[in-house]
Amino acid sequence: MSPALPAIPRDRLPALLRAMPKAELHIHIEGSLEPELIFELARRNQVTLPYASVEALRAAYAFSDLQSFLDIYYAGASVLLKEADFFAMAWAYFERAAADNVVHAELFFDPQTHTARGVAMRDIVVGLAHACRRAHAEFGISAKLILCFLRHLSEAEAMATLEAALPYREHFIGVGLDSSELGHPPEKFAQVFARCRALGLHRVAHAGEEGPPAYIESALDRLQVERIDHGVRCLESPALVQRLARERMPLTVCPLSNVKLCVFPSLAEHNLKALLDAGLCATVNSDDPAYFGGYINDNFVQTFAALPALDASHAHQLALNSFEASFAPAADKLRWQAQLDAAFATAA
Ligand code: HPA
Ligand code: ZN
Repeated sequence: MSPALPAIPRDRLPALLRAMPKAELHIHIEGSLEPELIFELARRNQVTLPYASVEALRAAYAFSDLQSFLDIYYAGASVLLKEADFFAMAWAYFERAAADNVVHAELFFDPQTHTARGVAMRDIVVGLAHACRRAHAEFGISAKLILCFLRHLSEAEAMATLEAALPYREHFIGVGLDSSELGHPPEKFAQVFARCRALGLHRVAHAGEEGPPAYIESALDRLQVERIDHGVRCLESPALVQRLARERMPLTVCPLSNVKLCVFPSLAEHNLKALLDAGLCATVNSDDPAYFGGYINDNFVQTFAALPALDASHAHQLALNSFEASFAPAADKLRWQAQLDAAFATAA
């Protein structure tokens, strides 16, 4: 149990949000690919991009919904061909994460986006795992991988992807479900998730970003997930909110993503405070930071600026929730919690 929180003056809140230790649980590593690195890898790998320059690519980052983003996100990922490319992408993320005082990160990756272009599963997983090991050695970040199935593809394709990844089972801790949500409800993947459960893999799924509360219920009941990614539409169902609170089911919320993909009209209208007030284990994450205008600390600082009802106690709760919701060992969670309390004591 944390001691009583010290009083923190509001003008010190942005610095505290940046300084506090935190876990990032919702980051698509392909969504951390900055335009400069996309162009560098395109040159190295002789991939032709449908954009003339870094500026032209960045100018295309105006999205109307999830699908309009995914189209550009998959185009950006087309420059990744070799093990070294996957390492370089993840290493660039870890440098940003270390600067943001991320102590633990669980990275999503989308193997089907790459194997469809002829990239070997080995090169994807080994390149990313190498960066994870180095992040631990150099930055003390504990870094894990979660393999995501693309939900716009079939369950048979997800099952084949799982089989292709099993020789590298030691390198990932769980599976997730991402890509186009509407029209692809969680139950479409019930069998592959059952197999993952039998294999001892952790399970998460995107649900309730654009999809209705019924998709969140399906992820819980049919996929037996341990976290919901996004989940912000849960507030449309009071019974579901009660269940999520009772089961202490974490939600990995991504405020800047939600505004960029028009899930909320503005940060000032985001429901993060309402989720916390409902007693939910909400966390703050970046989703696809290169595309949505900010890494995890930008998400924290901009959201707290836009929602003045959020104060230091909410910041503490969100960091604590991120440790609780992680798949890290209990001893690590206790250590990060002590570091969190120390950061608050220093800021007072
Ligand atoms: N939602 C669904 N799929 C995704 C996302 C997202 O926010 N980012 C990358 N793939
Ligand atoms: Zn996501």
